[in-house]
Amino acid sequence: MLRLFAEGEQMMSMPEITIVPDMAALSRAGTDEIVRCAKERIAARGRFTIALSGGSTPQGAHALLAQQKDLLWERIYVFFGDERHVPPDDKQSNYRAARESLLSKIPIPSENVHRIPAELDAPVAAQQYEDDLRKFFQLPPGEWPRFDLIMLGMGPDGHTASLFPNTRALNENSRWVVANRVEKLNTWRITFTFPLINHAAEILYLVAGDDKAEVLRDVLEGQKSDAYPTQRVQPVNGKLMWIIERGAARLLTQR
Ligand code: 6PG
Repeated sequence: MLRLFAEGEQMMSMPEITIVPDMAALSRAGTDEIVRCAKERIAARGRFTIALSGGSTPQGAHALLAQQKDLLWERIYVFFGDERHVPPDDKQSNYRAARESLLSKIPIPSENVHRIPAELDAPVAAQQYEDDLRKFFQLPPGEWPRFDLIMLGMGPDGHTASLFPNTRALNENSRWVVANRVEKLNTWRITFTFPLINHAAEILYLVAGDDKAEVLRDVLEGQKSDAYPTQRVQPVNGKLMWIIERGAARLLTQR
């Protein structure tokens, strides 16, 4: 696909797209990429920072990751890219899902797991989580943290993390984490902002489901538009990788 760039529009790294036959293959490929990245970062820098995504798609990869015996979990720091505005034991909680599919099954020190305190008032939870990230990354003012890996999913409406169409968080340019009112779900979410996401060294999308095929085609092969927040995920200086299950990829023309 030839895509023309407007004057001044930054040339971004082309996404790496892998299409796999089914969910089992998606979970396997996702786990292999996480493990590859973790080993590389720990060997190079002594630690690996990862932000998990919510939703159902990554749970299979979490389960496979939990069976991985040769990872130095004491060198791995787990964060969350977004959270529903619920307590940690709620069945809607991304933290709870990750705890059940991964965190409760691995020898990771509890202080290495940074959950979003979503039981608090949403703006307070967002601020506390941003403070937690700032304390962890210890950066000079104005600098963005560089996660080694941020995992993301995409919803059928083109949302990613909890950056939904027509919501205020889409235009946040200075905060790392914000509370985002999602009227169509009549709820708040706590989410990483685009600048934080786009400063990651690697962004890994796991996407599955026939119901996402049209939006995914538009996101990956269509013109840039504000309709789909996922289109605004463009690493500033990093790798963008998509692992896509065949059903979700069925309308892609380049595969
Ligand atoms: C969340 C997620 C969200 C998710 C997509 C895809 O908290 O819901 O972070 O962005 O990744 O909605 O969800 P599924 O994997 O369940 O399709």
